Amino acid sequence: MSGEHKGGLEDVVVSTSDVCFIDGDEGRLVYRGYDVNELVEHSSFEEVVYLLWHGGLPSRKELDAHRKALAATANRKLPPKLLGILRALPKRTSPMEVLRTGVSALSAFDPDAADNSREATLRKSIRLTARLPTLVAAWERIRRGKAPVAPNPRLGLAANFLATLSGTRPSPLAVKTFDVGLILHADHEFNASTFAARVTAATMSDVHSAITSAIGALKGPLHGGANEQVMRMVERIGTPARAEGWIRQALADKARIMGFGHRVYRVEDPRAKHLRRLATELGRQTGDTSDVEILDIVARIVSGDKRLFPNVDFYSGAAYASMGIPTDQFTPVFAMSRVAGWTAHVLEQHANNRLIRPRSDYTGPTHLAYVPLDRR
Ligand code: ACO
Repeated sequence: MSGEHKGGLEDVVVSTSDVCFIDGDEGRLVYRGYDVNELVEHSSFEEVVYLLWHGGLPSRKELDAHRKALAATANRKLPPKLLGILRALPKRTSPMEVLRTGVSALSAFDPDAADNSREATLRKSIRLTARLPTLVAAWERIRRGKAPVAPNPRLGLAANFLATLSGTRPSPLAVKTFDVGLILHADHEFNASTFAARVTAATMSDVHSAITSAIGALKGPLHGGANEQVMRMVERIGTPARAEGWIRQALADKARIMGFGHRVYRVEDPRAKHLRRLATELGRQTGDTSDVEILDIVARIVSGDKRLFPNVDFYSGAAYASMGIPTDQFTPVFAMSRVAGWTAHVLEQHANNRLIRPRSDYTGPTHLAYVPLDRR
């Protein structure tokens, strides 16, 4: 078998889907028919989760019940033995490794683990979406030698996460910003981690296995790991005055600049402008806008020189840093949101399943004669 292909499955359509639409030429992102700009303005993360799973906006009664389920202590709390597993890990373990391990281990405690029916997968999806923030916050506390903070069922997902991470009450602007960040990251069509989740789900494996696969794929710096790398770049640049010289040198060295470029968008990623605005507002509130100033200079030069535009990972870190979220927790925070999309795609895959099994264009030899060990 041989043929022309661009590599990386570029432009390959794998299947139909009703979950998410991206118009890469117009820079539009649509969840279940609703433009993400509308959702940012009027919705909440919890409502977006409902929309992604159920295919339409909830009534007030449905939304109340859905919020309650996502906030219930029974769904948010980690099994004590799981906390024991986290405490047994070396403190230097990266938060993404901890998240991948934690999600995998959670299936051992889940009463529906072996049940792949839609109802059971929805119950598991609620527990996963409710527990990921608890896992992320618990690891932050454990690695600093502090006790995890118990989740508060009266707080929504964004406020509860920030409160359990820091042990203090977050500002309303931080909660609002974090919630918008969650909405913006919730789904993105057949990106690498979602595809990994769907490949796993398509073997009729369970949702915990699919989300564990997805977390492994999200971790890489070409995907979700880019937000951490953008912040490392900001740290290396140091001050706005150094930004232009630094980025011009990086471009001259032909370096790959993290937070730029996208396989699908040919124009600016529609999520980036929201994250820039939020990072700027938060920077003003904390009295330090230097990260955003550095990013703006880098964006101006890279867009002008290479016609590459900031993607979702470019400004998100500056916003998270203003909320006191450590740099190596940026990608786990991304996962806390994307779990909504991953689980929506697992539900869709299971509803109309066929094994995903592509072919390779084999380029190696085919008729070698075996040489016995003592004659090599
Ligand atoms: N910096 C410098 N050059 C770039 C960048 C970049 N960030 N992105 C693309 N290019 C250049 C490539 O060097 C290549 O140039 P060439 O044709 O002259 O060799 C051309 O643009 C095409 O690049 P590819 O890597 O082939 O594009 P692909 O579609 O495979 O990659 C990707 C997309 C991985 C996002 C890429 O743009 C990249 O590496 N960006 C940096 C990492 C990043 O920000 N990832 C997050 C993406 S968003 C997300 O996953 C949540």
